[in-house]
Amino acid sequence: MMTTQRTVYVNGDYVAEGEARVSVFDRGFLFADGVYEVCSVLDGKLVDFAGHMRRLARSAGELELPLPWNDDELLAIHRELIRRNALEEGMVYLQLTRGSAGDRDFAYPDASTPPTLVLFTQAKSLVDNLGGKQGIRIATQPDLRWARRDIKTVQLLYPAMAKMAAKAAGADDAWMVEAGRITEGASNNAWMLTHEGTLVTRELSHAILPGITRSVVMEVAEALSLEVEERGFSVEEAQAAKECFVTSASSFVTPVIAVDDVAIGDGRPGEVALKLREAYIEESRRRAI
Ligand code: PDD
Repeated sequence: MMTTQRTVYVNGDYVAEGEARVSVFDRGFLFADGVYEVCSVLDGKLVDFAGHMRRLARSAGELELPLPWNDDELLAIHRELIRRNALEEGMVYLQLTRGSAGDRDFAYPDASTPPTLVLFTQAKSLVDNLGGKQGIRIATQPDLRWARRDIKTVQLLYPAMAKMAAKAAGADDAWMVEAGRITEGASNNAWMLTHEGTLVTRELSHAILPGITRSVVMEVAEALSLEVEERGFSVEEAQAAKECFVTSASSFVTPVIAVDDVAIGDGRPGEVALKLREAYIEESRRRAI
């Protein structure tokens, strides 16, 4: 059977995915010493690209990771991959690691070691998406990640474990909890709508990733005259809320219909969540580059 191979980008080359090579000594592989970004693609165009690249530069800066590409160069690579793979809807994944010094050593290599840059596309129906329409079920898990979750590193083992535990509990995804407050989802930001009509999402700190979708959804909410309060909230508050939802580049705004088997509202996707989803998608199509 012939399978189509994607074209991926590795350190300056566009190659068939089966031909792509990264060293076994790459620090991304040995130490999870790398950062990443996920940009969604609608109508063959990039959503929130500038915001994702700003966060990439910040993540790299926090880890003293070299990023010798400017936004225009990174945009050109994203666009070339979209073109070569004829991607209409889905995501572009970018990963930057500290490269390979040719051996395993905890200490960072010197500046002569070039970083590794890998990008690939993933085709996915983001707009016409079952979870986005019917909502998802959440199971909570203790947040056992490291203390710098504001940096988008590739050390994603615990979020993967939390997601598996959520699935084992009959849910679709996990929300992580620390000191009685929800931090965020395994790969998204957590939101609720109070019965008074205020949108609530946790304030930015080292405890959560500053979601790009989160910030654009805040703008969209403002345009819809919805009030947003940035503060943490407990599992019990979420369960008693009018609505709950998550935001991320790959899920946009996705309603949450249950938290730990407690139905949210009437157990159907919330009206405001669906309205925000629609408005976010509309705005994203307009702004995409
Ligand atoms: N995840 N919080 C976490 C822990 C995340 O991993 C993500 C994104 C978000 C939302 O950020 P943004 O809106 O910028 O996508 C919040 C990506 C999509 C992923 O890992 O696939």
